[in-house]
Amino acid sequence: MDIGIDLGTATVIVYINGEGVVLKEPSVIAVNHKTESVISVGEEAYRMIGKTPSHIQAIRPLSKGVVCDYKMTEEMVKYFIKKACKDSLVKPRIAMCVPSGITNVESNAVIDVAISSGARKVYLIEEPVAAAIGAQIDIEKPNGNLIVDIGGGTTDIAVLSLNGIVNKKSIKVAGDAINDAIIRYVRASHGVLIGEKMADQIKQEVASACFTPEEDVSGRIKGRNLATGLPCSLEISRSMLYDCVMKEVEQIVFAVREVIEKTPPELVGDIHTNGITMTGGGSLLHGMDRLLENRTHIKTRLAENPVDCVAIGTGKSFEYLDKLVDGFVSPSMQRF
Ligand SMILES: Nc1ncnc2c1ncn2[C@@H]1O[C@H](COP(=O)(O)OP(=O)(O)O)[C@@H](O)[C@H]1O
Ligand SMILES: [Mg+2]
Repeated sequence: MDIGIDLGTATVIVYINGEGVVLKEPSVIAVNHKTESVISVGEEAYRMIGKTPSHIQAIRPLSKGVVCDYKMTEEMVKYFIKKACKDSLVKPRIAMCVPSGITNVESNAVIDVAISSGARKVYLIEEPVAAAIGAQIDIEKPNGNLIVDIGGGTTDIAVLSLNGIVNKKSIKVAGDAINDAIIRYVRASHGVLIGEKMADQIKQEVASACFTPEEDVSGRIKGRNLATGLPCSLEISRSMLYDCVMKEVEQIVFAVREVIEKTPPELVGDIHTNGITMTGGGSLLHGMDRLLENRTHIKTRLAENPVDCVAIGTGKSFEYLDKLVDGFVSPSMQRF
């Protein structure tokens, strides 16, 4: 059995070759500080965010693209692997994508957890490579491709050619940063405090990076009025959110342009022909593809399955293993 795991900052997705995506849950874990025990992981823990009593905490251990809680990351990985593998008799090979900001020590800890959870072999694969494979890009040719993966905590931008990464950049501006910007805007301009999940919802339903006046829609948010301390609800439109959303997405555009500027000219020519491929949940932000296309003058498309793309590519990476070993998977990160 070969399994691909995309350990994302917002979502963990498990793909099994031959079966497809078997697990997709938020990267959240809830712990009881009194008893030091794990209460729930994934979907159930996500529902607890912002609603826990003081001794319980629902945390996202990878939220900023780095491991902010080592132990909890391990517990979370262990839980997801156990859940995805159920009680399979064969020990699986696992390929994993971890957030680009995590250190070698941290990724080794993740590998150890995978092995103690029953993996026979563990490979780490770089996210842009997995995203490209998942987006059905032929990575073996001497042909430049630009991948922009917008996740929860980080946006990863990379130019790939000949089974290798030519140039890459990772910034800590992605979906979560837009949520935070929305929370700040609603507080400052309307005196209303809203939670993380409310902000995420309004982002997905209303926010946009590029829209025409006809496309201006609105949605309702619920929060606490800071002046009265009482619950309230408020109508928010796409154009109201525009400034705060743009402040964040402009940083993504800037980083993409920087990567293009540092790419050798022959490859820039290829990218111009092939276009930019966007993956990750954050790329679903309304108008994001249009904005990137306008600002870079390069055709921009969303991968067929932007959210699952990295997990699918991670699972499929076994087909490329021989070639990838020197190209992508750092040998020090392999354990047998
Ligand atoms: N339809 C949508 N519009 C805008 N943002 C979205 C949409 N769907 C998901 N997202 C955002 O995508 C981010 C998570 O993307 P994901 O690829 O799962 O992250 P990661 O790879 O870091 O785990 C979250 O910030 C979420 O709000
Ligand atoms: Mg991701």
